[in-house]
Amino acid sequence: MIDRAAAHALMESKIENRNLRKHILAVEAGMIRLAEHFGEDKNIWGLTGLLHDLDYNVTADKPDQHTFITEDWLKPYKLPAEMIYAIRCHPGHAECHSRLDWALYTTDPTTGFLVACALMHPSKKLINVDTEFMLRRFKEKRFAAGATRENMAACVNLGLELPEFLGLIRDGMLTISDILGL
Ligand SMILES: [Fe+2]
Repeated sequence: MIDRAAAHALMESKIENRNLRKHILAVEAGMIRLAEHFGEDKNIWGLTGLLHDLDYNVTADKPDQHTFITEDWLKPYKLPAEMIYAIRCHPGHAECHSRLDWALYTTDPTTGFLVACALMHPSKKLINVDTEFMLRRFKEKRFAAGATRENMAACVNLGLELPEFLGLIRDGMLTISDILGL
């Protein structure tokens, strides 16, 4: 297993881009909030978020290899199989089954969507992005088009309706609003 400090150092050694680091930390924070909500293991869920895009830099132009290089890099740490499987699921390389799989799959696009919501808000602050604002933006297909709505809406597989799900991820991201600068 790996502890949070070592996982964070590993992530920073592989990912230099500041925005990509922020994305990864936002996913970690969202995953931790979801784990709290479901009474799941916050450590496992947080680390899954923190390590999910480890190979992003080296697979940007070969998306079919995304997550598989991460798996190789993570082998020495003997992480629980459920973490590795969830990471493999997030770009669609395996079928989501567990709550952990669905959590990562849905949180990944949602963090980018929420960053865009905050930047679009007159205050530029995530704390002021309320449910109504999020749902209105969600329906605007051209807004944050990279955040695939279908993948976000898959939160129903977690037993969560979209408003509650978006609120949980926002609340998770608010715990690191200083890092995100939102
Ligand atoms: Fe990601």
